[in-house]
Amino acid sequence: WLVYCKHIPASSLEHTFSLDTQRLQKRYVELQRSLHPDNFSQKSSKEQEYSEEQSALVNNAYRTLQKPLSRAVYMLELRGVLLEEGTDAAADPAFLLEVLEINESLAETRSQDEVSTIGRSVREKLKDLTERMNSSLNKGDLLTAKELLAQMKYFTNIEEKVKDRITEGC
Ligand SMILES: *[C@@H]1O[C@H](CO)[C@@H](O)[C@H](O)[C@H]1NC(C)=O
Ligand SMILES: *[C@@H]1O[C@H](CO)[C@@H](O)[C@H](O)[C@H]1NC(C)=O
Ligand SMILES: *[C@@H]1O[C@H](CO)[C@@H](O)[C@H](O)[C@H]1NC(C)=O
Repeated sequence: WLVYCKHIPASSLEHTFSLDTQRLQKRYVELQRSLHPDNFSQKSSKEQEYSEEQSALVNNAYRTLQKPLSRAVYMLELRGVLLEEGTDAAADPAFLLEVLEINESLAETRSQDEVSTIGRSVREKLKDLTERMNSSLNKGDLLTAKELLAQMKYFTNIEEKVKDRITEGC
């Protein structure tokens, strides 16, 4: 990973879905250290500009790879799979019903405890989906990976909502 920064030595992280986030972070810090503006203050303005561009790319790569959802979107894009907005998750009525029920209980409850409970169960589901995404991508099963991605999006949205509720204090 992080090889699309052209002039930085390729290396370091495998192109697998499951990754060691500590190593990712370490690599990110290394790259940003070597791209630090102080290192280019004596260089031509062309080189300064180039290093700034590379630094922005490194930031972007780090943000993309850090979270399972954006990492999955990116890995599927690299394989030519795009997720159309809205449509495809509708394929599984049982799944949509499950999401709808979680949404409703979240909308209706006034209990902070219940919000936390929903949050825990959503995180469990995301963990499970992430593991299944890992194995689907490793097997090259893109069709399944695409379905899992749609589901990850829904649960990530719910997780955001739960976080908002918790910071609001309900
Ligand atoms: C310049 O880059 C090197 C790595 O290539 C790094 O070790 C060093 O800390 C950088 N210097 C500054 C001032 O950031
Ligand atoms: C449930 O809530 C999430 C988060 O707000 C939203 O993205 C999604 O469309 C909702 N789904 C259903 C079926 O109500
Ligand atoms: C990801 O999948 C590979 C091979 O299928 C497996 O070896 C690895 O343990 C999995 N990683 C996680 C975090 O599940």
